[in-house]
Amino acid sequence: MIKQSYGRRYLVSIDTVSTQQLFTDCLIIGGGVAGLRAAIEAGSKCNVTLICKGKLDQSNTWNAQGGIASVLASDDSFEDHVADTLKTGCGVCDEEVVRLVVQEGPGLIRQLLEWGTEFDMVDGKIDVSREGGHSKARVIHAHGDSTGRGIAEALIRKVKEMPNVNVIEDFYAIDIITTESNGCIGAVGHRSGIGYEVIWAGSTILATGGAGRLYRETTNPEIATGDGLAMAWRAGAVLNDMEFMQFHPTTLYIAGASRALITETLRGEGAILRDCNGETFMKGYHESAELAPRDIVSRAILDRMLKTGSTHVYLDIRHFDKVHFSKRFPLISELCESFDIDVSKDMIPVRPSAHYMVGGVKTDTRSRTNIKNLYACGEVAATGLHGANRLGSNSLLEGLVFGKLAGIEAIAAAAVGDGLMYRKMKYDVPTSDRSRLDAEDVRNSLRALMWRNIGITRKEQPLEEAQEIIRFWQRYVMDKVFDSRFDWEVQNMLTISLLMAEAAAKRKESRGVHYRGDYPEVCEGSVAHYDIVRE
Ligand code: FUM
Repeated sequence: MIKQSYGRRYLVSIDTVSTQQLFTDCLIIGGGVAGLRAAIEAGSKCNVTLICKGKLDQSNTWNAQGGIASVLASDDSFEDHVADTLKTGCGVCDEEVVRLVVQEGPGLIRQLLEWGTEFDMVDGKIDVSREGGHSKARVIHAHGDSTGRGIAEALIRKVKEMPNVNVIEDFYAIDIITTESNGCIGAVGHRSGIGYEVIWAGSTILATGGAGRLYRETTNPEIATGDGLAMAWRAGAVLNDMEFMQFHPTTLYIAGASRALITETLRGEGAILRDCNGETFMKGYHESAELAPRDIVSRAILDRMLKTGSTHVYLDIRHFDKVHFSKRFPLISELCESFDIDVSKDMIPVRPSAHYMVGGVKTDTRSRTNIKNLYACGEVAATGLHGANRLGSNSLLEGLVFGKLAGIEAIAAAAVGDGLMYRKMKYDVPTSDRSRLDAEDVRNSLRALMWRNIGITRKEQPLEEAQEIIRFWQRYVMDKVFDSRFDWEVQNMLTISLLMAEAAAKRKESRGVHYRGDYPEVCEGSVAHYDIVRE
C-alpha cells in the first residue's frame, strides 16, 4: 500500500447556482471501446449521457491496428489463451478475471459481427493472426490494420441508433463529484463553446483510456493524458499497478514526425528486426525471437540501439509480397509511402515507445471501484487481466467485457437513482500567489523526464530524481486554478506521473514491463499489487 497526501479535492471552484446542469441516469466519460460498449448496455434500460473530451474518432481504440484476441481457430482453446495471458502477466494476473474475459470473447466477437464490424475473412471464416506471447493464431483484424476503427464505427452506429443515449463530444470532464454517503453523483466539466457544466448522475462510468502522453515517445493520441486516473485519484479511488506502463517495440521513428504504431502482427507474419548494421539480433535475446513478449523485444531493441550507438533499429519486410502487404496492412503501407519508404527496398526505422497503461483504477469482476456508484472499464481500469504485462490485443476484448458489465451495473444503480436530484454545491479553491511556471514548458519537460527516468529501464537514483523534480513542479502548478483543458491536463499529468514514479521506486524487482536495472530479477514473494490511496 502506498499512501500519498494530496491537498485539493477539485481542480476548479464549483458553484451550482451559476453553472448549467444536466441530469442523467448513467454518465459515461470516454468514447473508446469500453465507453461505447457500456453505453449500448446501459442505454437499453436507462438514460445515458456519454461525454468525450475530443471527437469519437480520436480514441486509442480508433487507432488500434493489430486486432482483438479471441479463441476462434479450431486448434486453439480457452485454456491456451488463459495460459498465454497468465504467462505474459508474470505471475500477478487475477486468474478469475482472465478466465472471464477469455470465455466471453467469442460471443462478443459474434455480436460485433452482427453490429456490422467487417472482420477480415478467409474461406468464409474469420482470419486470425499471431502476435508476440500468443502460442496460437487468435488475433482478429478488420480492414487489415484498421481493426480499432472497424470496431469503433460499428459501436458508434449502434449507439447513435439508441434514443436513450446522448453523446456529447468536446466535453472535458474535470472532476467527478462525490459525497460521503452517496459516493459518486456525477461530474463537473467544460464543454467547448458553452463553458462549465455539472452533470448529476445515478451512476458514473469512467472509460477515459490511458496515459501514454505522459511520455515523450508514445503511440497514443493527444487525448491520452491520464485525466480519468487523476480525477478518480482525487475522489479517493484506489489505483494500483501504476508502475506497469507497457512500451510497444515498434513505432515508426522519423525525427520530427509524430510516432506512429507499426503493428506487431507484421512480426507475426514474418517481419524481421535488424540493427543499424543490418544484423538480426532477437534470437540472442529470446527463443521466440521476433515473437517474444513485448517487454523483452522493447528491451532488446533498446540494448541494441545502445550497443550500436543508434537512435533506432529497422523492421525488415523486404521479403513480403508487396501487393499482399498493401492489402493486408493498408494503413502502414500508406504511412511508409508518405515518407518515401519503399518497403520492397527500404527497411522501416523503428524504436519503442509508451503504448498502454496496465495499471489504473482498481476494479472488481463487475467493474466496480471502491467508490459507490463509480465504475471503471477499459484502459483506465486495473481489472487484474494483464498482471505485470499485457498480452497484445487482449485490451480491446477487455474493454468489451468490462464495458458491458459496467453498463449492467449502471442499470441497477439507476434504479436506485441516488444522483438524480438537484443538489446545491459550492466549492472554492483557495487562491495562491506563488509564481507561475509556463505550462507548456512543464508539460514538455515532464514528458522528457518520464521517458528518461521512468522509461523502459528504471533505477533507484533516476526514480528518486524524477520524484523530486515532479514534486517541485507540483508545488507551482497544483496550487493554481486554471481555465483551460491544456492546463488541467498538465495538472493531471503531474499527479499521475508522481504516482507512477513512486510505485516504480517501490517495486524493487523486475517483473513484466517494469524493468529495474539495479534489481534485474523477479523477487519471489514480492507484493503482487501496490494499491495507491490518497490520505
Ligand atoms: O501491435 C499492435 O497492433 C498492437 C496491439 C495492441 O496493443 O494490442
